Amino acid sequence: MDSLTATATSLTGFGNEFASEALPGALPTGRNSPQRPPLGLYAEQLSGTPFTVPRREARRTWLYRIRPSAEHPPYLRLADQGHIAGPLAPPNPNRLRWNPWPIPTEPTDFVAGLATVAATGTSLTEHGVSVHVYAANTSMRRVFFDADGEFLIVPQQGRLDVATEMGRLMVAPGHVAIIPRGVRFRVALPDGASRGYVCENHGTVFRLPDLGPIGANGLANPRDFHAPAAAFEDVEQPTEVVQKYCGELWATTLSHAPLDVVAWHGNLAPLVYDLARFNAIGTVSFDHPDPSIFTVLTAPTDTPGRANVDFVIFPPRWMVAEDTFRPPWFHRNVMNECMGLIRGAYDAKAEGFLPGGISLHAMMSAHGPDAATTERAMNATLAPHKIDGSLAFMFETASTLRPTAYAMACTALQEDYDACWNGMKKFFRS
Ligand SMILES: [Fe+2]
Repeated sequence: MDSLTATATSLTGFGNEFASEALPGALPTGRNSPQRPPLGLYAEQLSGTPFTVPRREARRTWLYRIRPSAEHPPYLRLADQGHIAGPLAPPNPNRLRWNPWPIPTEPTDFVAGLATVAATGTSLTEHGVSVHVYAANTSMRRVFFDADGEFLIVPQQGRLDVATEMGRLMVAPGHVAIIPRGVRFRVALPDGASRGYVCENHGTVFRLPDLGPIGANGLANPRDFHAPAAAFEDVEQPTEVVQKYCGELWATTLSHAPLDVVAWHGNLAPLVYDLARFNAIGTVSFDHPDPSIFTVLTAPTDTPGRANVDFVIFPPRWMVAEDTFRPPWFHRNVMNECMGLIRGAYDAKAEGFLPGGISLHAMMSAHGPDAATTERAMNATLAPHKIDGSLAFMFETASTLRPTAYAMACTALQEDYDACWNGMKKFFRS
């Protein structure tokens, strides 16, 4: 099942019109009609945006496959829904933080290991996000796709070998992968025990943020995003396909392997991006900009600047500002923030925020550096200093994030998160 046949090299860019074939001559070219492909393949369009959006917004891909996706028995709702989606807890204005999710002891694949920590609503809505963690120890034999949104996968431990309809991506901690809505994929775990985060974007598709006065280069550059080369399985073997549809898991069994796309072209494709390629931009005078300067990807709403979700990172970088308070400042935000840590120690928290852990700061919840970090920063002699070895990130959304009932009841929830702001000394002098 892991013998994908591929020929082409990887394709780079973001939103590019890619074309890839795993067999010479499989891709319609020249006088071949795009909808009457060679080699007896079926043509199938996967639409990631409505047909009639402005051309610059349009995302679609033509798949040339051995069998059309339409050939399948009915999907049946899985009796075991695991911890994905599920009921939300009552709205909660408190700051919340969880320890790293434990790696399961029972065989658990990527799909079974998904647990929803927070969501902005039910998956019946066409906007907002769901935030999941995954903890798994077994490679998938089944194939999964998400009808409810695109997956932004952020591994924290263990590489993910992701076989998709368009080809294969290797995603290591420090990389992220975007799997478009509807694309079928299977995750193998070459390193065994694996853990990470998923932002399920129910709204408009992710794109690169505008750069404004930054200019034509900077932040995440398009050429650093890699799409897979076409690869396919021609296997007559029963294969379970699971989909997430309106917040629930449904499954069917095909008579054959569904990753059977021999060639494809289009601009809707899985992508992998190495966060080390992010060109971080910051102050060289005093104070520091808002964290939006670290936006890797954004999914906009109809209101300019009000993101359905931004994916923001806090990468290794030099801190050189003079006359300032260098950690992230105290703030209350109209947006909702969900943070994770891939490695190292975040510069606003001395302890308690661990790689694989997650924090949730809902709209207007007051937060900032903990007491120990604050006092140290207020008294620091400022010299150029490099934040190195740590990589944190944030999913920031305009919609109200609510924890799930499961997340509020699980043992990973820290009972004493508020305590990190205890003991804020009074330095006021009148
Ligand atoms: Fe914040």
